[in-house]
Amino acid sequence: MSPPTQASSRIAAPTVVASREALREAVRTARARGQSIGVVPTMGALHAGHLSLIEASRRECDFTIVTIFVNPAQFGPHEDFQRYPRMLEADLAAISRIGAELVFAPELTEMYGPRHATFVEMEGVAEPLEGSCRPGHFRGVATIVLKLFNLTSPDRAYFGQKDYQQTLVVRRLVADLDLPIEIRVCPIVREADGLAMSSRNVYLSADERAQALTLGRSLSCAAERATAGERDAASILAAMRNVLAGAPGVELEYLALVDPDDLSPVSRLTGVTLAAIAARVGQTRLIDNCLLPVG
Ligand code: PAF
Repeated sequence: MSPPTQASSRIAAPTVVASREALREAVRTARARGQSIGVVPTMGALHAGHLSLIEASRRECDFTIVTIFVNPAQFGPHEDFQRYPRMLEADLAAISRIGAELVFAPELTEMYGPRHATFVEMEGVAEPLEGSCRPGHFRGVATIVLKLFNLTSPDRAYFGQKDYQQTLVVRRLVADLDLPIEIRVCPIVREADGLAMSSRNVYLSADERAQALTLGRSLSCAAERATAGERDAASILAAMRNVLAGAPGVELEYLALVDPDDLSPVSRLTGVTLAAIAARVGQTRLIDNCLLPVG
C-alpha cells in the first residue's frame, strides 16, 4: 500500500485499498498526523450526486475516504444485487478528477466472513416507506454503515438527500449507538431535465427515462401547491397522482406526505413536510423526494 495522499496536494489519484487492515492503517496514519476524517459510503457507479458528497467532505475534512461496496445484505432476494452496475475503474477515474485521499473497495468476503451472524435491527424510522416495500433493506444498510463507521472512525459522514429515509436511519444509528460522528446530508443532484441522479438510471430505456421524469414533476407540483398555500395533504396528493397519471409506464409503490423527522403521515401541512415517492419504471425501481416549504 502506498501512503495516503497528503492533504496539501489535494487533487491526486487516491490510494486504493481492499483490506480492512490496510484501511485501518491508513486511518491510524491520518489520525497520527492530526487530520480530520470524512467518509463517503457508496456502492460505486458514481454520478454527480456522489461526487458532490466527496466534494463536501473535501471541503470540511483533511482526509476523505470513499468506500465502494455493493452490499448484498441490503438487497432483497428478488432485487438487483447481481446486475447492480459495477465499474470500479470508471469510479476511480472520477474520484481522481476531484481528489480524495483513500478509496476502500473491499471484496464481499472481506466485509462478510462465512460465519457473519450479527446485524443491526432498527424500529421506528426504518419501518415505513422503504422499510415496508423492501423488508430487510435497512437492516442491511445499518449493518454495513456501522461496519464502515467502525473501520474508518470518521469525524463526519456524507449521505445524499435522495435516500432521505436512509439519512434518518443513519442519524438514528449514530444517536442510539453513541457514535461520535456528524452526519452531513447533501442536496439531491438532478439531471438537466429534473431526473434525480441514481446509479440505477443506467437501466432505463429512452422511453422509460421520459416516463421517469414524472416523479420529479409530481414533486414540483406538490412544492408549487404548498408554496401557494395549500395545506390539505389529500389535495396535494391528488394533484401529484394527476401528474403521474400522464405516465402509464410508472407503477407507483408509494406516494406519501410525511413528517420529515419521524415519517408519520400528515393530513395537514403545519410545518416543513416530506413528499416521498417510489415507483417502478419497467424493471427499474426509482425513489425521489422533496421537502415542501410552508410559507
Ligand atoms: O446509499 C448507498 O449507496 C448505500 O445504501 C450505502 C449507504 C453505501 C450502504 O451500502
